[in-house]
Amino acid sequence: MTVRVYVNGAIGDQSSAVISIFDRGFLYGDSVYEVLRTAGGHPVDFDRHLDRLGRSASAIMLALPDDARIRGAVAETLQAAGNPESYIRIVVTRGAGRIALDLDAADTPSLIVIVSDLKMPRAELYTQGATIAIVGVERTSRRAVDPAVKSGNYLNSILALAEAQRRGAYEALMLGPDGRVAEGSTSNVFAVRGGRLTTPTLTTGILAGITRQRVIELARAAGLEAGEGDLYPDDLRTSDEVFITSSIRGVMPVTRVDDATISSGAPGPVTRKLMDAWDGFIASVAIGTGS
Ligand code: PDD
Repeated sequence: MTVRVYVNGAIGDQSSAVISIFDRGFLYGDSVYEVLRTAGGHPVDFDRHLDRLGRSASAIMLALPDDARIRGAVAETLQAAGNPESYIRIVVTRGAGRIALDLDAADTPSLIVIVSDLKMPRAELYTQGATIAIVGVERTSRRAVDPAVKSGNYLNSILALAEAQRRGAYEALMLGPDGRVAEGSTSNVFAVRGGRLTTPTLTTGILAGITRQRVIELARAAGLEAGEGDLYPDDLRTSDEVFITSSIRGVMPVTRVDDATISSGAPGPVTRKLMDAWDGFIASVAIGTGS
């Protein structure tokens, strides 16, 4: 496995990649980031990920390096790694400065790109489906750090996942402050009921997943009804099918929510159709006809 890291202009390996301990990304999680994958060596949905990086940065009043610099850093790091397919993490922190919360304590953002071999989740998660646990750790309110901001502070998700894993589940599902289903620790969720796909509305306080949006588009193109709505824990437990989405996972079936088996306990037909549609999308990116 080849890991290559770009840090403010220099590319090195895992052990040579270093950043100041006074960097606010390290001290406070004062950073924004994106995770994406390649297909045929091309970053999948690169434009959409860069748009979201821009939205996250402006929400926390962080000035991003310009688009060309970020794209150039990704291209150089991918080339240096030379993996058949890659995992890409782009991180922009507010940079280093004196220890103080004030935004003007640092004035030069740090740009970091981490590229490693793309490792997909274990195959059984796709053939048998994953178990998710509805956890007590709540998704933060939109009036705190808005979950729509993909910031480097992931403690909320870290604690949610730890709770889910203690309960033997693969992924956590967090509820928003008002009890509506929000999202996973690193995934969005969909419920299939009566052939219609529903995913929590953005106003619930969730990350606007790039895969979530792609899957809505793929579902509609396949003639399925798909859109946003409110979901409560019991809606999920009694759904015909449930699946989660994220840039690395793609579409992953969920066959257990807490103690409830979803439908027959095997990935359902709508989920399988969307897994195929996702694979088709990835294949189109690989041959240069998709984004
Ligand atoms: N995370 N919700 C949260 C909280 C996430 O961290 C992620 C992805 C998603 C799915 O978003 P997308 O489809 O854009 O990947 C939803 C990435 C993969 C990560 O942190 O590893």
